[in-house]
Amino acid sequence: MKNNLESLINKKISRRKMLKDSGKAGAFIAIGAILPDEFFNLSIFQNKNINKNRNTKVQNNLFNAIEPSMEDKLILPEGFEYTIVRKWGDKINEVDYFGYNNDFVAYLPIDFLTGGKNSEDGILVVNHEYPSPLFINGYTEENFKNKKLKTKEEVELEKKSVGISIFRVKKVNGKWEFTEDENYNRRIDANSEIKLSGKAAGTEEVKFSEYAKGTLANCSGGITPWGTLLSGEENYQDYYSSEKPDEYRWNDVEKDFIIENYGWVVEVDPFNKNSVPKKRTSLGRFRHENVCINISPNGKAVAYMGDDKINECVYKFISKNKYDKDIRENNFDILDEGDLYVADFENKKWQLMDYEKRAELKANFKSQADVLVNCDKSSKLVGGTECNRPEDIEINPFDNSLFISFTNNSEKKDYFGSIVRIIESNNDSESLDFDWEVFATGGVASGFSCPDNLTFDSKGNLWVLCDISTTKLNTERFKTFKNNSLFMIPTSGENKGKAFQFASGPTDCEMCGGNFTPDESTFFLSIQHPGENSVSLDNPTSHWPESGNDMPRPAVVAITGFKK
Ligand code: FEO
Ligand code: CA
Ligand code: CA
Repeated sequence: MKNNLESLINKKISRRKMLKDSGKAGAFIAIGAILPDEFFNLSIFQNKNINKNRNTKVQNNLFNAIEPSMEDKLILPEGFEYTIVRKWGDKINEVDYFGYNNDFVAYLPIDFLTGGKNSEDGILVVNHEYPSPLFINGYTEENFKNKKLKTKEEVELEKKSVGISIFRVKKVNGKWEFTEDENYNRRIDANSEIKLSGKAAGTEEVKFSEYAKGTLANCSGGITPWGTLLSGEENYQDYYSSEKPDEYRWNDVEKDFIIENYGWVVEVDPFNKNSVPKKRTSLGRFRHENVCINISPNGKAVAYMGDDKINECVYKFISKNKYDKDIRENNFDILDEGDLYVADFENKKWQLMDYEKRAELKANFKSQADVLVNCDKSSKLVGGTECNRPEDIEINPFDNSLFISFTNNSEKKDYFGSIVRIIESNNDSESLDFDWEVFATGGVASGFSCPDNLTFDSKGNLWVLCDISTTKLNTERFKTFKNNSLFMIPTSGENKGKAFQFASGPTDCEMCGGNFTPDESTFFLSIQHPGENSVSLDNPTSHWPESGNDMPRPAVVAITGFKK
């Protein structure tokens, strides 16, 4: 049997002697991460009251859950409100503006470096994942069909639209505001100078690069205990390519790109505007979603990461040196030295990806740098399990267990995704053995579909941001979910595993990021790609957030109304 998570979950299902008749559909709902077509023919899903199992009637003590919606609005439960903090095109400093398709967002208290938890004055770090040529420079699918080349000006606009925004925010008279501050406000884009560091830097495998030109495809990310941003370069393959309509064809004007300089984790110090960001090559090159850091009982920094591609793997990196909680600078290069592992769910082991220590790697690769640059291939040779598109990985503050979103894999007929929980042996993130279980499955009964970004609050509630792809939203089997949404799922207590809908996003959008202030009174949220199905500027499918005739604009919002 092939080492893939789908077949392992199916094995778990058959071990539980699942009954096949339609009356026992509950068994599918509880544990079936993989939903065969017959699932949709079960009689209970022909019922008009298809949402009857949703948790709008069950109470949770944080908010009254909302219903799915197709409105071109950001809808929140009663008593909550939002303000737009920054939207596409807004100023960041004298020369730079807020980029497109904001994804990861994190709030760092302004007094973070002295151990403070200021929840009304801080720095927001925001990733900008990808451009929409239609809204940025007017390049259309029709242009692609007519083989129109992109101009230098068009490419430059797109290069300025991706990367990272860093800026100060303050709560003034109860309302969050962008704040001009030349000490912090900064943009990093696809032209910024970025140093390569770690085991692949300067090697033949990256064409001897010591520096990369810019960062791109910045999807999810993480904040380290030492107060830096880790930004994941995800679909890097789409930029310097012009084969398909949804590729950005920067190669029309730039021929000397080095593709091996993309697909890494970029570390940025938001507290030092003049610091040069670094691509941490020892963490491996793949389609990075987020990075979640845990400090092991022995003091090592352990970084968990997913490769968001069909049939790709989950990884962890264990640092060689210990985290220094007293001297911040001692941690600045901690992610350069250490060991990379890939998750083997079949044997419940983390498999080492060290060229010197694994014969399988020595036989097929030239060096450790070669192993790192080509993680999609090297991981499988040592036993990495193929998964259904791992997205965010987060740590439950209550018990240190890891929660991973497997968003979907239509190739395997996993349409709605699942959330899997990993428990490290001895509750030690340095352990090389673990156990795992399916915590929740997307689907009609649970109410959520295609989980993507995750974040925990201090009560151990898991906040799940869903990303049904824009072309599938409100079609066929996805109709009941309506627009993309945000759910809260308790991980303990009587409502454990139940999904309560907290927000419904505007037309065609995906909601992502998601980060509380330390006092949990504010939740910062990204609204990404509203109006993405638009084919012309004359008639966009969304006008959010300005309404009227304005084009849709991705934005970061601050949601308030949480009880302290
Ligand atoms: Fe950019 Fe895997 O989401
Ligand atoms: Ca994502
Ligand atoms: Ca996504």
